[in-house]
Amino acid sequence: MKAAGAFKLNESVLRLGAEEAFVYLARGLELKRKGVDVISFGIGQPDFQPPDFVIEEAYRAMKEGYNGYGPSLGMPELREAIAEFLSSERGVDVKPSEVAITVGAKAAVFMGMLSLLEPGDEVIVPDPGYPLYESVARFVGARPVYLRLHGGNGYKVRYEDVEKLVSERTRMIVLNYPENPVGTTIDRRDVEAIVELACRRGIVVLSDEIYDHFVYEGSHFSTLQVSEWRNCVYYVNGFSKTFGMTGWRLGYVVTNSALLERLSVVANNMYSCPPTFAQIAAARALRHGLGWFKSILEGYRRRRDLMYEKLSGIPGVKVRRPEGAFYMFPDFSEVIREKGLRSERELADRLLHEKGVVVLPGTAFPRDGGVGHLRFSFAVDESSIERGIARILEWLEAA
Ligand SMILES: Cc1ncc(COP(=O)(O)O)c(C=O)c1O
Repeated sequence: MKAAGAFKLNESVLRLGAEEAFVYLARGLELKRKGVDVISFGIGQPDFQPPDFVIEEAYRAMKEGYNGYGPSLGMPELREAIAEFLSSERGVDVKPSEVAITVGAKAAVFMGMLSLLEPGDEVIVPDPGYPLYESVARFVGARPVYLRLHGGNGYKVRYEDVEKLVSERTRMIVLNYPENPVGTTIDRRDVEAIVELACRRGIVVLSDEIYDHFVYEGSHFSTLQVSEWRNCVYYVNGFSKTFGMTGWRLGYVVTNSALLERLSVVANNMYSCPPTFAQIAAARALRHGLGWFKSILEGYRRRRDLMYEKLSGIPGVKVRRPEGAFYMFPDFSEVIREKGLRSERELADRLLHEKGVVVLPGTAFPRDGGVGHLRFSFAVDESSIERGIARILEWLEAA
């Protein structure tokens, strides 16, 4: 039994893992406070601000009186706007009663797993993958089963590999595409086959599509575009990435309306409702369309290409050009071996302390699939990409 000071801790809470990006964010900020010129490729946060009109709408909503509690599943204005937006963008028929607003996409994942999993259930999660899925699965007593992404399968989720991991105990398959940290998408035929398999076998597909607008090659094919989605898909998205609104804490779920009834009770117990003025502003932002986002995406594409070129220039580093999201996940195994380092963790720590460059160790995502890798976010300006990677090269030459 572990304790925190005089307090005995709950066993399930001890099974939760923390997203290490926040730990490295704090370390970087601490160095900055001491006067170090820190370049951060760490936290996965867009470097642009929400468009001015969204900020003005939030102010207007507050002035209009949207400062109190609202319904636990979210404001009808935003549920309607999301249903319309998805219906027109993806050509699907989503009803407002099938949309719930949550306090960030994280809460959507947390409440979904809490509501749908039992102790002993198996949950297929990508490895490397966003650490939240494994952490929450363990919290509820479920068993993560890792779907390994590696050079051999192009770091992509493929139907054949998912099917091999499905057992009698599988209750959930987690998809995240474009993927954090590897930046791959999932091909349409694989999305269709995975959703069809899940529906047939009574398995839920929790599909986190929060990076769906950060796609540089081809287009995004959503799980909502598979006609059976109402029977087995729990779709997660949010405003953090596309709108640069990480601090507004707005996410959403699209799923069967009967399941949302239960989710509403969970939300009610946890946080009552998401912030009301933020929801009204988000609804107006969606109705405004995403025309403004085009130039942002072009800028991110240029950064991706620059980072790819620079990382490819480091001897011994293997890197692939991601199709989506804003991360690169190069393999530094050869460098680690040659320089006699213990692991990617030692490399990440030394780059931070000796060169002021924040990168995340691959094993923060969240285990073996990231051995020997580092995660770089390219949600930073081009000059920081050039300077940061030049520092890494200098360090490697001197080490
Ligand atoms: C895959 C993925 N899902 C969810 C989130 C969290 O989103 P939110 O800020 O809406 O909680 C992140 C943030 O990094 C993410 O990478």
